[in-house]
Amino acid sequence: MTRVLVTGGAGYIGSHTALALLRAGHDVLSFDNYANSSPEALRRVTVLAGRSPEIVEGDIRDRAALDAVFFRFRPDAVIHFAGLKAVGESVERPLAYYRTNVTGTQEVLETMQTHDCRQIVFSSSATVYGEARYLPFDEDHPLAPTSPYGRTKLFVEDIIRDWVHARRGTSAVMLRYFNPVGADMSGQIGEDPNGIPNNLLPYLARVAAGRLERLGIFGNDYDTRDGTGERDFIHVSDLADAHLAALDFAAHQIGATAINVGTGQGATVLEMLHAFETAAGRQIAYQFLPRRPGDVARSLAAVDRAARLLNWRATRDVADMCVSTWNWQSRNPDGYGT
Ligand code: NAD
Ligand code: WQD
Repeated sequence: MTRVLVTGGAGYIGSHTALALLRAGHDVLSFDNYANSSPEALRRVTVLAGRSPEIVEGDIRDRAALDAVFFRFRPDAVIHFAGLKAVGESVERPLAYYRTNVTGTQEVLETMQTHDCRQIVFSSSATVYGEARYLPFDEDHPLAPTSPYGRTKLFVEDIIRDWVHARRGTSAVMLRYFNPVGADMSGQIGEDPNGIPNNLLPYLARVAAGRLERLGIFGNDYDTRDGTGERDFIHVSDLADAHLAALDFAAHQIGATAINVGTGQGATVLEMLHAFETAAGRQIAYQFLPRRPGDVARSLAAVDRAARLLNWRATRDVADMCVSTWNWQSRNPDGYGT
């Protein structure tokens, strides 16, 4: 059993990981300011797990608040999800992204150092690779993110690498998520974006539910099987399991290691739409639109490092991703606001 401080524990990936941690018998403290989430997610995690995480409302930019939590909870490890994640918004508000994602992480690392906490699992992103020079992306692919958001992830990876190098006995796993989608099979927790969703699956779910008229597909002239963009979608429950494996790895290994988290299998936007039609049992209207600026044609993960170092592989497929998203959407038409 490990005592795990989860920053951003009420968020989409954080709540699924908190559930997996509690089910595996770990003690969890969620530290979240609810900038992009609801405390209701943690209430539901408590019901599903049959026991509660400790819950603290706080901001990672607030050193005194972090300090108080470390002093009281004495975590063995940190899983650091808290941050801002909208690529477009990061172009409009870069300083807010650097403040929260970079300075905020520095506060977390400094607090870890003060309290001699030596293990961290960090939420990085496949967006650190930028344009593909070759596919699938392995972890040694050059890093050239194309947005302020992506650069915050790269800078934090570098900061963590430098810190781990300088501090004997510390250990970091930087998980580079590809495209997390889906929801816990209970349909009780899931992704609950504010406003009109930017990402494909939440958008598809709202069209299927009749809350948006049709999906706009950004580009049908890419060099892919059907002309639409191809991504490596990864089920959020598989992703949660990868964090458990990463925690175990960090406990037995020193050094900083970047590891991709994907399935290694791509699906195009049209393939995802058809899988969602099957899951929801209804047709989904769509129209082709021009390409979205900044999008790449294809993104695919090399998954052998995760298999080798973490002994982890994704087990859920595209059908599971769509069925669970639809289950969450139809049970909670207004997300946590229901
Ligand atoms: P999310 O927005 O649902 O979760 C982030 C959580 O952090 C939220 O609960 C939010 O309230 C909290 N938070 C934000 N700023 C905070 C602050 N200053 N102090 C304390 N808490 C704060 O996002 P998610 O999809 O669960 O993503 C989790 C992490 O994974 C993020 O770091 C994100 O960049 C990274 N990531 C996400 C994806 C994705 O597609 N969802 C892909 C790659 C990487
Ligand atoms: C997937 C595909 C779109 C919406 C983003 C971030 C990335 C990472 C994961 C955090 C693309 C197409 C989408 C729509 C569409 N997040 N699409 N119509 O852009 O691959 O990755 O989330 O680290 O950094 O950029 O995900 O779900 O937005 O798009 O046609 O309304 O669906 O063009 O081909 P993306 P997405």
